[in-house]
Amino acid sequence: MAKITASVYTSHVPAIGAALDLKKDHEPYWQPLFKGYETSKQWMKDNKPDVIILVFNDHATAFDLTMIPTFAIGCADAYTPADEGYGARPVPVVQGHPELACHIAQSVIQQDFDLTIINHMDVDHGLTVPLSLMCGEVEEWPCPVIPFAVNVVQYPVPSGQRCFNLGKAIRKAVESFDKDLKVQIWGTGGMSHQLQGARAGLINLDWDKQFIERMVNDPADLATMPHMDYVREAGSEGIELVMWLIARGAMADVAGGAKPTEVHRFHHVPASNTSVGHLILENQ
Ligand code: DHB
Ligand code: FE
Repeated sequence: MAKITASVYTSHVPAIGAALDLKKDHEPYWQPLFKGYETSKQWMKDNKPDVIILVFNDHATAFDLTMIPTFAIGCADAYTPADEGYGARPVPVVQGHPELACHIAQSVIQQDFDLTIINHMDVDHGLTVPLSLMCGEVEEWPCPVIPFAVNVVQYPVPSGQRCFNLGKAIRKAVESFDKDLKVQIWGTGGMSHQLQGARAGLINLDWDKQFIERMVNDPADLATMPHMDYVREAGSEGIELVMWLIARGAMADVAGGAKPTEVHRFHHVPASNTSVGHLILENQ
């Protein structure tokens, strides 16, 4: 049977991708940020998954205002890095896992979550920056990836509770796939940031730290937090954090299993306009 072995949580700032691609990662501004991911890159090598379910948000790259799926799962063979205005990032094409993705779609839709099926999509920084942070500069990504897109750009966006429940459904789906696969689930985006309006530049590190603490130790309670709290405390783009609850909802303890082991926790402020947060949890 397939198993969720671990969950990874990380911010996805586009400037992080640009810093890597333009070889600025050793500059004083960026060095402390990338240092925080050294442990994570080693952990990825030591704990190579067979598949990553990568929960992310598209930033009006693949989906624009003509169509806005709340939840969408990538069932394609491969996904090309998108041109977000400065040319595509020079990173490998992302290989998909259509067989597991289609199984998850079948199972999760039968569990009453409406998913949009994606058969073709270019992937933006929401997906490629977390891969770069966790894998470094590579010729190819370490394993196939199932992109799982969540609308956190255009209201109405899904609640934290719905995201948490969706994570539970994804775990059931993975565990009913009859191949021995080690599956990681990643929740990406956040932490506090606001890119426009009167509060542009907002960062709330204390709140972010508390969010991670609750994510580790009391995710069911964290899932009840209303949107307004995210937006007020973490800024308009802080709402990206609801995606972390999908990954957390897929962990074993939520279904009555053992508490996960915390492998790594890291904060860094700022990267571009964003407070960067990162967490790795392993199922026992
Ligand atoms: C920034 C952060 C984001 O999450 C994003 O999607 C775009 C820009 C930033 O901090 O610059
Ligand atoms: Fe973003």
